[in-house]
Amino acid sequence: MNEIKIFCPATIANLNCGFDVMGVCLEGIGDEMVFRKVPGKGVRITQITGADLPFETEKNVAGVAALALVNAANPDSGFEIEIHKKIKAGSGIGSSSASAAGAVFGINELMGRPFTKHQLVDFAMKGEALASGSEHADNVAPCILGGFTLVRGYNPLDVIKIESPSEIYAVVLHPHIEVKTSDSRAVLSPNVTLKAAITQWGNLGGLIAGLYTKDYELIGRSLQDVIIEPMRKKLIPGFENTKNSALDAGALGAGISGAGPSIFALCKGQTSAEKVAFAMSNAYLETGIPFDIHLSKVNDEGVKTI
Ligand code: HSE
Repeated sequence: MNEIKIFCPATIANLNCGFDVMGVCLEGIGDEMVFRKVPGKGVRITQITGADLPFETEKNVAGVAALALVNAANPDSGFEIEIHKKIKAGSGIGSSSASAAGAVFGINELMGRPFTKHQLVDFAMKGEALASGSEHADNVAPCILGGFTLVRGYNPLDVIKIESPSEIYAVVLHPHIEVKTSDSRAVLSPNVTLKAAITQWGNLGGLIAGLYTKDYELIGRSLQDVIIEPMRKKLIPGFENTKNSALDAGALGAGISGAGPSIFALCKGQTSAEKVAFAMSNAYLETGIPFDIHLSKVNDEGVKTI
């Protein structure tokens, strides 16, 4: 196999109570990438469509992730990468992660899979670090593994794929404003009160338990964020109103998708998700800011060859 084309899905990170540790993979929204094995050594980016991104391998998220993998594997060939972006940068649904995850998945396939999917998360994180200034795996892990994932620890990286009920749908409203992850992290205070920490880890445990036991009410009760959302919501016009409209329309929970500005809701079943999407759209119209809205089932497979 000398050439492959892949689909790199969008993801929702944090899921309210799991800042930097929880994430879920989406269907239908994602980038495409093409990889070619070529004579020689190294990684070259030959085409980028849909975004204005650097072609220099060391300055490109996909390039940096690919180099981390290639340096560890030392293959006797080089690789060319085409990146076709569909996920907007700074949208909060894992644009940089899709590129980083795609890069390591694609090259690993062409090398004959020397690394497991879990090992690929570590390499992809190097690309994510270039984009946001910090190494976190809560987007790259679900992008590579599919479904819901938990980063149990970073040192060493310990990622767990969480079993989840089949009827969960995500709604993502993407306002057409850009919030850079680095800026969205800059507004966060490094200090957390013990009271808030207790609430947050209680909810994170509740979310995991709810996913495993298919207890939708527990999932809903646990989708709360008392630490990050209060600091970040000011970056997203119309956030509060849109979140409340999702909850009023029957969403299990709603909040900021990743670093924002996208606003997500999780719902039980497609009919409920359609109702929630309608309510969120109506609420967001009041801001006058253009937006698009996606409705997606949880994607249990993650990045894949197409
Ligand atoms: N956990 C990250 C954040 C996700 O919220 O900053 C965005 O990359």
